[in-house]
Amino acid sequence: MIEIRDLKKCYGERTVLDLPELTVGDGEALAFAGPNGSGKTTLLRLLAELLKSSGGTVKKPDKALYMPQQSYAFKGDLVRNITVTGCEKSEAKRLLEKLELSHLAEKKAASLSGGELQRLSLCRVLSVPCELLLLDEPTSACDAKGAALVIEAIKAYQKETGCTVLMSTHSPVLAAKAADRLIILNGGRIEADGEPKRILMNPENEWAEHFIAGWKI
Ligand SMILES: Nc1ncnc2c1ncn2[C@@H]1O[C@H](COP(=O)(O)OP(=O)(O)OP(=O)(O)O)[C@@H](O)[C@H]1O
Ligand SMILES: [Mg+2]
Repeated sequence: MIEIRDLKKCYGERTVLDLPELTVGDGEALAFAGPNGSGKTTLLRLLAELLKSSGGTVKKPDKALYMPQQSYAFKGDLVRNITVTGCEKSEAKRLLEKLELSHLAEKKAASLSGGELQRLSLCRVLSVPCELLLLDEPTSACDAKGAALVIEAIKAYQKETGCTVLMSTHSPVLAAKAADRLIILNGGRIEADGEPKRILMNPENEWAEHFIAGWKI
C-alpha cells in the first residue's frame, strides 16, 4: 500500500506538486498523465527517494525500483548492461529475448537506437524483483511494436512479483492497456482519477476533457 498525505514539492515560491491525499493499493497498476511540467517525474522521483519533499508524508514498500525518463547505457554489451544489477546471465538473456533484443546481445549498448536503448533500460529494471516499480515514460521512445513488447513485459513482471506499478506516460495506449487506474495531473494537482477507459471516454471535468481531446489526436 502507498499512502501519501499532504505531499508537496516546491522550488522557491513555486509549488510543482501538491497531493493532499493519494492511496494506491498493493498490486495496483497506476498511470500518471498530464502536460509537460505537470509533476509526473517529480512524483516518481520523490517515491524513489531521489528527491526530498517540501512537506507531507509517504508510506510505501521498502523495495522500490525506478526507471528514469532518460535511458542510459553502461559500458559493454547488452548482457553486461543488465547483469550490473547482479542478476544471472540467463535472466538477462531471457529478458533480451522478451524485448526482442537478442539479435543485438553482443553489441555495445552505446550503439543502440533510442527505442532499443529504452527497451534495454526496461530489461535492466525488470531483472530484479521489487515491491514497487516506478517507470518514467517507459514507452516514450518506442514504436507501436516496441510499446506492445514493453507493456507485455511490465504485465508479466507484475504477475510474477505481485508488485505495485506506477508509471508516467503521454501515451493513451499505455494508460489503457497497462494500467488499471489513470490519474491526470495538472500543475502538480490531480484533475482526474479512475479507471482508464472511463477517464478517457468520460473525463471528470472540463480541464481533463480538454486535455484528453488533445491526447486523442
Ligand atoms: N531543480 C528544479 N528547479 C526548479 N524547477 C524544477 C526543478 N526540477 C523540476 N522543476 C520544475 O518542476 C515542474 C515539474 O517537472 P516534472 O519533471 O515533474 O514534469 P513532468 O510532468 O515529468 O513533465 P514531462 O512530461 O516533460 O516529463 C516543471 O515545471 C519543472 O520545470
Ligand atoms: Mg517527466
